[in-house]
Amino acid sequence: MCALLKWYVAAGISEATDTEPRDRFQATPLRKAVVASAPAAKPLESPATAREKSRDTVEIAAACTTLAELRATIHAFDGCALKRTATNTVVGNGDEDAALMVIGEAPGAEEDRQGLPFVGPAGQLLNRMLASINLKRQTVYVSNILPWRPPGNRSPTAEEIALCQPFIERQIALVGPRVLILVGGISAKSLLNEKQGITRLRGTWRELTVANLADPVATMATFHPAYLLRQPAAKREAWRDLLAVQKKLQTPNA
Ligand code: URA
Repeated sequence: MCALLKWYVAAGISEATDTEPRDRFQATPLRKAVVASAPAAKPLESPATAREKSRDTVEIAAACTTLAELRATIHAFDGCALKRTATNTVVGNGDEDAALMVIGEAPGAEEDRQGLPFVGPAGQLLNRMLASINLKRQTVYVSNILPWRPPGNRSPTAEEIALCQPFIERQIALVGPRVLILVGGISAKSLLNEKQGITRLRGTWRELTVANLADPVATMATFHPAYLLRQPAAKREAWRDLLAVQKKLQTPNA
């Protein structure tokens, strides 16, 4: 039993769905009955429907004129199926007038439990990364592309990203940071609208144009702290990216 549980954890299964164990060998007749009476599976959403939905979130997000309003709107939004499997809606937190904003992918298990971004092991490493360039976490605004944890930490789909991206873009516009750090490939590729992976995108300055912000934001992509926990050798490159961010923040009008 213990070996089976360990295997589940290694396979990424971190949540139990039942409080009682079930004997699956006894379950066959019941399963057949359930399958027989189940409604036909819904067809997958077409790209046109996904585009239509994300146009809605552009309008919903644009109508929010403060971060508090945007936060309440995201909490009340029911148009993303990820919300149904998540425990909490996780919106950004930190200094709402921050010069630096950090954007990750999506809440993990601990973030989902607490309803706060980057509070699990990756978040602790993120705090140490910020401290290494003399920044306290509470002076930075930290958020994610998606406000809901994908089940089992699976990668978000292109449709989920497109649907939620207006919410993070509106957070950028309302915070108005001078510098953005995009941690990990999902965050970098979706906001920079690039196809290349994080290894190619990291390490160079880019200008991110956001609706309703007068100037583009100086943006640095770097490795995700969760990746750095698995691949400590990559910390060397991440350190270089952080030094570039520190220099940019210390140079007025740079
Ligand atoms: N990983 C992320 O990308 N975001 C979090 O908030 C936590 C882990």
